[in-house]
Amino acid sequence: MKTTAKITAACVTLLLAAAISSAAPVAENWENHCAKCHGADGKGQTKAGKKLNVKDYTDAKVQAEMKDEEMVKAITDGVFDKGGKEKMKSYKDEVSAAEVKELVAYIRKFKG
Ligand code: HEC
Repeated sequence: MKTTAKITAACVTLLLAAAISSAAPVAENWENHCAKCHGADGKGQTKAGKKLNVKDYTDAKVQAEMKDEEMVKAITDGVFDKGGKEKMKSYKDEVSAAEVKELVAYIRKFKG
């Protein structure tokens, strides 16, 4: 019984450590690089976000219209309008390819 409790406690600690270490950097990246326009909550209701007309990532319809590859490309290479004007800059110098994937997953979590 005692051993079981110890093992359970060790497992919980490990799980928590894993959750914290993988969640912290992506939340930080979002806060540092993205929240200014897309909002801490993903709704894009910031001053810059409203001006640039960013999408509401809590909207299931918006989420359904976005493909993961497009999101990766948007974050890596930036977003441009039809005239080639930059709407969002490229983040490949700020975040690694792995971090881009984490950010995509992070955006997906805003839904619901
Ligand atoms: C200067 C404001 C600004 C910042 C900062 C910004 N974005 Fe954007 N983002 C935009 C605009 C504007 C668009 C194009 C309009 C839209 O799709 O909402 C866009 C589009 C996107 C898209 C494409 C959505 C689609 O339709 O496929 C993704 C994904 C995205 N941003 C993620 C991010 C991430 C992740 C960061 C941080 C690394 C970030 N953005 C930082 C303004 C910004």
